[in-house]
Amino acid sequence: MGDDFAERVLAWYRRHGRQGLPWQVRDPYVRWLSEVMLQQTTVTAARPYFERFLAAFPTVQALARASQDEVLAQWAGLGYYARARNLHAAAQLIVARHGGGFPRRVEDWVALPGIGPSTAAAIVAFAFDVQAPILDANVRRVLSRYHGIKGADAGASHALWAHARAHTPARDVSAYTQAIMDLGALVCRKAPRCAACPIAAGCAFDGKDPPAARRARPERAVFWAVLHDPGRGVLLARRPASGIWGGLWSLPEAPVLNDLPAVLEALGLTGRLGPPSAPIHHAFTHFRLTITPVPVVAAAPGPGVAENRDVVWYKGEGPAPGVPAPVRRLLNRLLEAP
Ligand code: ADE
Repeated sequence: MGDDFAERVLAWYRRHGRQGLPWQVRDPYVRWLSEVMLQQTTVTAARPYFERFLAAFPTVQALARASQDEVLAQWAGLGYYARARNLHAAAQLIVARHGGGFPRRVEDWVALPGIGPSTAAAIVAFAFDVQAPILDANVRRVLSRYHGIKGADAGASHALWAHARAHTPARDVSAYTQAIMDLGALVCRKAPRCAACPIAAGCAFDGKDPPAARRARPERAVFWAVLHDPGRGVLLARRPASGIWGGLWSLPEAPVLNDLPAVLEALGLTGRLGPPSAPIHHAFTHFRLTITPVPVVAAAPGPGVAENRDVVWYKGEGPAPGVPAPVRRLLNRLLEAP
């Protein structure tokens, strides 16, 4: 590229970019873990999780050896749990395929579960200074505006990747990669701050972004059986390995209220359903979930429960099981009540 796009972005970054974040080290394990966390989580929200996760699993070998339960317990609350399951599976593949060493090629990272082309490029750029272009949502917005690309189709994507490649410098790739991400996050925001932008000169943005594809989010309803025993705590059931919150611990669940007794029976429990509590709302990318907790009174634990590995009583003591955020909130309410 004959212009000074990268130089201007780098000069801006040295003064205004994000520096001193805990994952800004030349360590592929750290860069991989943090990029996966930052895919759908903000820097502020990810930071404490990142530090705890790294303390629990300091190396790819430690992560590969851990059980899925242990990994999900550390991820619990961050959302998008497929990220944690893929991270765990990828750790096992890295140990098996690469002997625990980390690949330097984008293609080798893309071949691992949960890693797309932009994440793969960010990892090798940050960890090894490999000249690899990234195109995450922020960079896509920067380059679409700068180059006046209006579409959101495959042709637009192709053009954007070509621009990303042309702008990525041969040197200082790690700093440039962080710089272009930061420019998108801090200046070229949805509501852009063009007066603060180092590449405003030469930018084709006319103030009109292409209309964002609006996603209708359908509603889904579920009912949760709340078995709260003063002695044993709250009964949690492990969710199936796939689907929402796969492998995490939640409450026994049914899509309709009348199915709850059969669900309980399958877990070796009987009981009478009390009046439903106020619903809890939770938004996913593709749908909204309305959860109605239903207290179960006079629950009689059958013999099956004690031996069932997919059921536990949780009292709020000992290591916390991996539970999604709405379950955590409900547990806090139930277990903190005097
Ligand atoms: N989002 C994705 N990767 C990031 C990073 N390295 N720094 C800040 N935000 C990010």
